Amino acid sequence: MRFRPALAVAAGLLAAAAAALPVSPASAAEPTLGELAAAKGRYFGSATDNPELSDAPYVSILSSEFTSITPGNAMKWESTEPQRGRFDFAKGDEIVELAQRNGQQVRGHTLVWHSQLPSWVSDGGFSAEELRSILRNHVTTVASHYKGKVVHWDVVNEPLNEDGTLRDTVFSRTLGESYIAEALRAARAADPDAKLYINDYNIDGIGAKSDGMYRLVKSLKEQGVPLDGVGFQGHLALQYGFPSRMQENLQRFADLGLDVAITELDIRMQLPADSAKLATQAAWYSDVTKACLAVSRCVGITIWDFTDKYSWIPDVFPGEGAALPWDENLRPKPAYDALRVALGGDPDGGEPEPPASCKVAYSVGSRWDTGFTANVTITNTGDSAINGWTLVFDLPAGQRVSQGWGAQWSQSGTTVTAENAPWNGTLAPGESTSIGFNGTHTGEDGRPTAFTLNGTSCTAA
Ligand code: G3I
Repeated sequence: MRFRPALAVAAGLLAAAAAALPVSPASAAEPTLGELAAAKGRYFGSATDNPELSDAPYVSILSSEFTSITPGNAMKWESTEPQRGRFDFAKGDEIVELAQRNGQQVRGHTLVWHSQLPSWVSDGGFSAEELRSILRNHVTTVASHYKGKVVHWDVVNEPLNEDGTLRDTVFSRTLGESYIAEALRAARAADPDAKLYINDYNIDGIGAKSDGMYRLVKSLKEQGVPLDGVGFQGHLALQYGFPSRMQENLQRFADLGLDVAITELDIRMQLPADSAKLATQAAWYSDVTKACLAVSRCVGITIWDFTDKYSWIPDVFPGEGAALPWDENLRPKPAYDALRVALGGDPDGGEPEPPASCKVAYSVGSRWDTGFTANVTITNTGDSAINGWTLVFDLPAGQRVSQGWGAQWSQSGTTVTAENAPWNGTLAPGESTSIGFNGTHTGEDGRPTAFTLNGTSCTAA
């Protein structure tokens, strides 16, 4: 793994949010996440926050690796209009200017949110008429200030409850659901070229909350309200499982004529991190990326800061963390390589792969009309013991694991993950373990050809 020196992305490279862009030849030997995503017609971004900008090694990576930046806090209402009518754009401007110097685009976050909302708004006791005017004025003033500088706006953030109903906030209580349309219309009038988004968490897979979002945005589209996209925050946690049918979920929103974007991706775990958890995390980063790339209207991915050094997770979820692709010392983790590979790049920037220290034999024991049984033998071919393993491979489309043994099995899209059982996690050099599963198929007879164990490629036997 090599670090790149700070490298300003060619000015103008990212003028269009989702245009297919060539990889810069100067850096083709080791393209960044942003360049790899650009080659797929997407952006790859990171959130950042003003206090972090005095950390030079951090800024070097922020400036070179990403093609989009989202201010994590600087454009929220408490920052931009802390007192009624007194606007302050200093922090937001600092981040926009950094992005402009680097040729990066900016996702604006966020115009209307119930959190980080100054008490003069939340506790103001305003009538519907007053609050509508306050909301319009805020959206208009902030979106006008950043006109032409912000490519996407999260106009409304987190409007829904977990059951998909409208969240109770000062805005919904006073104005009903209409506050959402008000905000979107004001944003469109202020900056007609910015893509306008509604953004929320726990809508990444299909479920009650994403169903609620689907109903909301469908109804807004039917009413002709200006809405261009839906942001799927993607705050995932290993202990809660991968979102159900993520690609299908993104696709159903795209089918409404909306862009979709992964806007705040991070994948936390219960601490301490270990190699098995980091391998699963890497597989999930890859799966989210593949889900986005499989949906033509998925325009890009933003991670919610890029290093564990500045993640919001440990403050809010004590005992959890290690959620981002770079560790606290700004060193890339397995998730970084997984992202590169999912975006079509070579792991380790094209450096030769280390020799495989595992071998995987996959065989189909029996097969019938709709199902099959697969046996998988994993062998430690390295010189040291493996303590805890996660095997990852892709099944051909149409095949699904229905029930497995010898490991904890899960599947997301085509990607299958098998984590060791308590009794076969340790494999001494030369030792093997056999696991397997019953699967379903829809006619195809293919089988997986590539396997990774704890993020390292294995020889396929
Ligand atoms: O600015 C004050 C500082 O003066 C004070 O000394 C310090 C003491 O704790 O707090 C600072 O404010 C913190 C602020 O971030 C800026 O760093 C707040 O305590 C802290 O709560 C706030 O957290 C932010 C969080 O939103 C608030 O909900 C995170 O940085 C930010 O990453 C996070 O982002 C949200 C998205 O906007 C929406 N989706 C979820 C996501 C994660 O919570």
